[in-house]
Amino acid sequence: MVLSEKRILLIISGGIAAYKSLDLIRRLRERGATVRPILTQAAQEFITPLAVGALSACHVYTDLFSREDEQDVGHIRLARECDLVLVAPATADLMAKMANGLANDLASTVLLATERPVLVAPAMNPKMWSHPATRRNLATLQADGIRFIGPMAGEMAESGEQGLGRMTEPLEIVAAVEALLDDAPKPLSGRKAIVTSGPTHEPIDPVRYIANRSSGRQGHAIAAALAKLGAEVTLVSGPVTIADPTGLRTIHVERAEEMRDAVLSLLPADIAVMVAAVADWRVASSSGQKIKKQPGDAPPALLLTENPDILKTVGHHAQRPKIVVGFAAETQNVEDNGRAKLTRKGADLIVANDVSPDTGIMGGTRNRVKIISATGIADWPDMDKDEVATRLALLIADRLVEGAKP
Ligand code: C5P
Repeated sequence: MVLSEKRILLIISGGIAAYKSLDLIRRLRERGATVRPILTQAAQEFITPLAVGALSACHVYTDLFSREDEQDVGHIRLARECDLVLVAPATADLMAKMANGLANDLASTVLLATERPVLVAPAMNPKMWSHPATRRNLATLQADGIRFIGPMAGEMAESGEQGLGRMTEPLEIVAAVEALLDDAPKPLSGRKAIVTSGPTHEPIDPVRYIANRSSGRQGHAIAAALAKLGAEVTLVSGPVTIADPTGLRTIHVERAEEMRDAVLSLLPADIAVMVAAVADWRVASSSGQKIKKQPGDAPPALLLTENPDILKTVGHHAQRPKIVVGFAAETQNVEDNGRAKLTRKGADLIVANDVSPDTGIMGGTRNRVKIISATGIADWPDMDKDEVATRLALLIADRLVEGAKP
């Protein structure tokens, strides 16, 4: 069991998702972990220390100024005597405190004092999650090396609102904890990977843009799968509505040119997987002001110009990564187009798929791909995008190891 002997310091902050933390404690303990819980004051409005204590079979810490607790272990020992600090749920308030180094209760003090890895599972109203203040705090915390899992999209427990904000389900949090604490050697340890994902938005004017139907699901899944195999992954994502994957860094961009700049700034790297559905064209000179519709005027003509081909640039770059993988989303002649792309773009592998509307692949959760390389074509059966990602990551790892052989 990956988690046997592992000590998790679980910080539960005040949100309705706190009820899921009771199950989370059980799941972690089932896998052999010991769980030492800290409840914020607000968390105690949602679940009781009694329930948390019973499920964790451990003393529940709630108060920074408890003389008894300070004599027992003290907040500095709490911060140190663990393998991982897990914050689930993390409210917007606690994230704001963490991002600003505030330490005015036990949870925030321990978070400021700890040198252990910290994994955060946010849960809040979608408006709070998308608020610029929370976006800033998230970026600060990610830059500080804090890992995140979720939030997920779905219906909010209190308001019935839809959007990103639900806490990730306990079993998924457990899987992220296991991945973080798994110290077994991994095939891509020490390897640097760049993954692009999602669409790009090419502005027509400040309010309108050209885009495509990419959801980012496949690219994000590939970034996560490479990270699981131990690679140090940076995901360069266009605008998507899905959450950033955990265990890696995500850079958010809008336009193809921004995506290219971000990718090139990340070279040198060992692996590049270019999954993004980059817009082929952008508006030659997008307007700085909203283009107004005037009665009687003809519709404006849009003059398009070609976007940089990021895959091709990387595939022919002086600092070309050892493995370069491209995608070919086609609606016809999938194999021929894929093979042509392999040479034209300087890729080692092309993952080709038929994205005709009746396949449901674009935006869906499943994919059916052909892997095209210089030596042939492998036809993979229809499977979940996560499964495609895992298999592709393993294939990349195999090729890197083979390439390393004398
Ligand atoms: O030429 P096409 O768009 O079909 O090629 C698809 C592959 O090239 C994908 O891997 C995609 O991420 C990449 N690409 C790119 N930059 C572009 C266009 C495509 O990186 N401007």
